[in-house]
Amino acid sequence: MRMLGIETSCDETSVAVVQDGRHQLSCAVRTQIDIHRLYGGVVPEIASRAHVESIGRLTQMALDSAGLTLADIDGIAVTAWPGLIGALLVGVNFAKGLSLATGLPLTPVHHLRGHVAANYLAYPELSPPFLSLIVSGGHTSLVHVTGYTEFRTLGRTRDDAAGECFDKVARVLGLPYPGGVAMDALAQTGRAGTVAFPSAEVRGAPLDFSFSGLKTAAVNFLHNAQQKGQDFCRADFAASLMDSVAQALTGRLEEAARQVQATALVLAGGVSANSVLRRRALETAQKLDLPLYLPPLSLCGDNAAMIAAQGFFELSAGHIAPSSLNALATREIEDNEI
Ligand code: KG4
Ligand code: ZN
Repeated sequence: MRMLGIETSCDETSVAVVQDGRHQLSCAVRTQIDIHRLYGGVVPEIASRAHVESIGRLTQMALDSAGLTLADIDGIAVTAWPGLIGALLVGVNFAKGLSLATGLPLTPVHHLRGHVAANYLAYPELSPPFLSLIVSGGHTSLVHVTGYTEFRTLGRTRDDAAGECFDKVARVLGLPYPGGVAMDALAQTGRAGTVAFPSAEVRGAPLDFSFSGLKTAAVNFLHNAQQKGQDFCRADFAASLMDSVAQALTGRLEEAARQVQATALVLAGGVSANSVLRRRALETAQKLDLPLYLPPLSLCGDNAAMIAAQGFFELSAGHIAPSSLNALATREIEDNEI
């Protein structure tokens, strides 16, 4: 079954074709980073407009590069939730129009389910059940994936997402948007543990996170240094921050793995590109003697191939959107109601 995937939840417009949820035939992406960098972050209204401009061209590009036409497609998958509402509406409305014009079934995909499914494209042997650590710009959760469309959240952030924390601190450091990427590069030559940060753990909730205290401490450190004219090693600062975040994430991952007796660990989301997190996750997996699946760097960020991959499993489970399908800014990953 060939699925056409459409992703417009944030600042990447993407259209892809995937066969049977496992084989990427094409993936066209137009990132808006160059546009939003001028403002230091995503401007929702501008994001929506840029999606409108690119989506038609990207659809044609994805079909052309797979050597296919719409007549060769069996279903359409679109990110319907969660995300920036105006941005999501562009993809959802485009997908609905395409479905109406072609008669192809349309299936809505949860963006974070898509991030998890990026791993199905890279690892043919990977199948549920497994434990996933999903870390993106807007979400940080530990999810027990018990089936392709069955999810159970074990823990989550109580406030900021890990990516949000990196992006905010990077902005104060004067690094370009998206800050997480720039800070990862800066951290390469730094020494972790040279700057101390508060814990991201939540007392009494062993699988939850809280990154706002850590973020505030990092921003205060920078403001203090600036006000007092104190010099500090930026690379050491970045390496220390990333390691604190990675340790919190992998500590909780280990705890959750023991709790559900996980048989495999899977990283997902934009922040899974982080070099420190990847290294720490590998250490955790070795300690627990479990296989670890890391999405390839090309599939960590937002893309439509992961949406088409998950879309295959959604459609196979009978999840078909009615013509009244609407986008939602928030939605739990376990919710299967359409
Ligand atoms: O999943 P994603 O592309 O978009 C959302 O669904 O939110 O994640 C974007 C987030 C941003 O916060 C970005 O700074 C972060 O992922 N990110 C990284 C790295 N690459 C992307 N954070 C740390 N290290 C990286 N290498
Ligand atoms: Zn994402």
